[in-house]
Amino acid sequence: MPVSQFLSAFRAAFGSGQFLKCTLSKPNARAESDLKNVYLRPVSLKKGLFVAFNYRYRTRDEVKNLDIEAAIARLEQLLGAQFLNAELFTTDRQYSLQFSRSGTPHLGSKAAENAAAPDTAHDRRKNRLLDPAAPWLHRLGITSAKGEVLAAAQDKWRQINKYLEIIEALLRSTPLPDDAHIADMGSGKGYLTFALYDYLTNRAGLQPRVQGIELRQKLVDFCNDAAQQAGFEGLSFISADIADYRPDRLDMLIALHACDTATDLALAAGIRHQARIIVAAPCCHKQIRKAMHTRNELAPVLAFGILEERQAEILTDGIRALLLESEGYKTRVFEFVSTEHTAKNVMITAVSGPRNESALEKVAALKAGFGIEEHYLEKLLDSSDH
Ligand SMILES: C[S@@+](CC[C@H](N)C(=O)[O-])C[C@H]1O[C@@H](n2cnc3c(N)ncnc32)[C@H](O)[C@@H]1O
Repeated sequence: MPVSQFLSAFRAAFGSGQFLKCTLSKPNARAESDLKNVYLRPVSLKKGLFVAFNYRYRTRDEVKNLDIEAAIARLEQLLGAQFLNAELFTTDRQYSLQFSRSGTPHLGSKAAENAAAPDTAHDRRKNRLLDPAAPWLHRLGITSAKGEVLAAAQDKWRQINKYLEIIEALLRSTPLPDDAHIADMGSGKGYLTFALYDYLTNRAGLQPRVQGIELRQKLVDFCNDAAQQAGFEGLSFISADIADYRPDRLDMLIALHACDTATDLALAAGIRHQARIIVAAPCCHKQIRKAMHTRNELAPVLAFGILEERQAEILTDGIRALLLESEGYKTRVFEFVSTEHTAKNVMITAVSGPRNESALEKVAALKAGFGIEEHYLEKLLDSSDH
């Protein structure tokens, strides 16, 4: 009875859009060897809403997306038979199904600790990403006290939402562990750091540890105060140089509009820690511009300053993308929305993937053609023992 009640609650929450996540723990002797937990989350695919099963083995993860019927059938195979504990989190209730050693199930439930209202509006997808009534948005000067986006903050609001759409798509292909460790390097005033934390905890159902790294102490203090007031326990900011930041673990690296080679420092840290997801929006590109001595047919056109500047941007980010590929990342380069800080709006995203064995040869050819002695990211990767 408790098992079928648990499964009914699971099915009902999934059907009504209130399912946040489900965790299976305490594997018994019949569980697959090395399998520690299974994390379930809703995942929106082209074919509709599925349940993502993230099987966490001692040294690797495996993800399978199942439709609701297959998901229920799979849970029936796992509950009690292989796992002695299951927790189901919905927007309004938490269920706990526990099996004694003799196999007797017990089901408990209580109101959700951070009850979130289910999505009801017709534009459900957008609503799901960020609630404009979130108090932190007001504290950061994006919304009014009534939760309306201020006229002066419309661009910022669009940027935040676009950013979360990108994050949502990345998580669909590359799920993060429940307790993901995330660094936002060069977090500035923290809009995007707060948005990421809010989305991951309140919409994606994770319990991440997100840290903003920022040189300017004033901004760090402001962001820490705002995080505390928002009750965002897993969000913190430290005043440090990205060059000196040495996290123990890094599952996701963010570096948005960090200046010039700060982006390279951040990318190198992400690669060194084998972060599963890397998101960077480069800012200025001075290093390569100074290093360029073009020796190919583009030389005459690059005598025009603006064209040389654009070429330097292309080379800086193109070589970054190739270096990521050479390190085992599937990489994309595309246009992000422009911001008030900069007209530079290229975004590079990278997720764990196969190594591109020919990428380094391509980098070497580009460097030769444009007379570039060194690309800072390549130098960092060469000098680190990753
Ligand atoms: C243009 S702001 C971008 C802020 C935020 N990421 C965004 O996109 O809205 C860049 C921030 O990176 C910080 N920064 C630059 N170099 C840094 C470094 N080496 N270590 C830590 N922070 C750095 C700057 O102080 C600045 O606040």
